[in-house]
Amino acid sequence: MDRRSFIKAGAVATVAAGMGVGLDAKGRKGKKAGKAIESGVTRDVEAYGGLEIKEITIKAGAKKPFQILHVSDSHLSCADSRDDQRKIDLASRRSAGWPDAERNWFEAMRYAQDNDILLVHTGDLNDFVSEANLDITAKSFKTVEAFCICGNHEFSRYVGEAKEDHEYKMGSFDKVQAAFPNGFNVCSRIINGVNFVAIDDVYYNVTREQHELVRAEFAKGLPVIIMCHVPFYTPDLCENALSRMNGVCAYVTGAPLEITSTFQTDPSLPEELQWKNRSVQQKADQATLDFLAWLKEQSLLKGILCGHLHYFYEGPFSPTANQYVSGAGYKGQVQLVTIR
Ligand SMILES: [Fe+2]
Repeated sequence: MDRRSFIKAGAVATVAAGMGVGLDAKGRKGKKAGKAIESGVTRDVEAYGGLEIKEITIKAGAKKPFQILHVSDSHLSCADSRDDQRKIDLASRRSAGWPDAERNWFEAMRYAQDNDILLVHTGDLNDFVSEANLDITAKSFKTVEAFCICGNHEFSRYVGEAKEDHEYKMGSFDKVQAAFPNGFNVCSRIINGVNFVAIDDVYYNVTREQHELVRAEFAKGLPVIIMCHVPFYTPDLCENALSRMNGVCAYVTGAPLEITSTFQTDPSLPEELQWKNRSVQQKADQATLDFLAWLKEQSLLKGILCGHLHYFYEGPFSPTANQYVSGAGYKGQVQLVTIR
């Protein structure tokens, strides 16, 4: 049996069964997310547990048109006796917020497999680091053809228990990275003449080293689709996100400092807890602002795929590229992207 046949023979079920997780055969009707700009059809697909599939098209100049399934923010929240009681309690608390997360992840994989298309995941596949979550991750990517970038939750140990920065990330980086099919930081995959460039921006910043790696990808001269977890700042998206969040913050990378300085700030927090303020967490450094200014000028940029917000959003990023935010994977929201 070749790999493809093995996948079709029910690898998703194998993953599910292996983790003691069954697929619910009942259809699901999720709450519809708001959409700032409508450019494609959104339809529920009952054959895949009611996945809410938003169809979009990116005109990139591909040698041959093709499709990918874009999933983000699945937030798998599993734990078992291999982790401590604190983690098991966390899993039970967090999974109550997204009871269909695993089912929707397996259905998304099944959709990609059945349609023989690449699955791209733009982060927060896992809600936190646990043996069970990483088992599902590793088994999933042995069965589905995928290209990924990490999310902030990928490295989260107990969700919000500590300041999450590079040092924090490094505490679990190797273990998490080992479960995924490709490298984080900056990674490229070329399909039909289109260069997919995945970049880790999980803590709202991009380093100068990453900028140089992305610059080298553009130097290949191919049309580029960027994949990242946190959406890049645009005035429209920032305004939209701020209004949804009642002005607390916008959850975007590279917002101008005059905007992030208005985000939620509690000056009464002691110095060691100032990281809890959204104005601190989401503040861009100069390298990030420079990167975004440069990226906007790249005519080879044809699209940006990202997540983090948990609702569909689409809007212009640059003269040549729109930014497409996928909805919540845990609710079954995915984007079927046709690339021409
Ligand atoms: Fe996120």
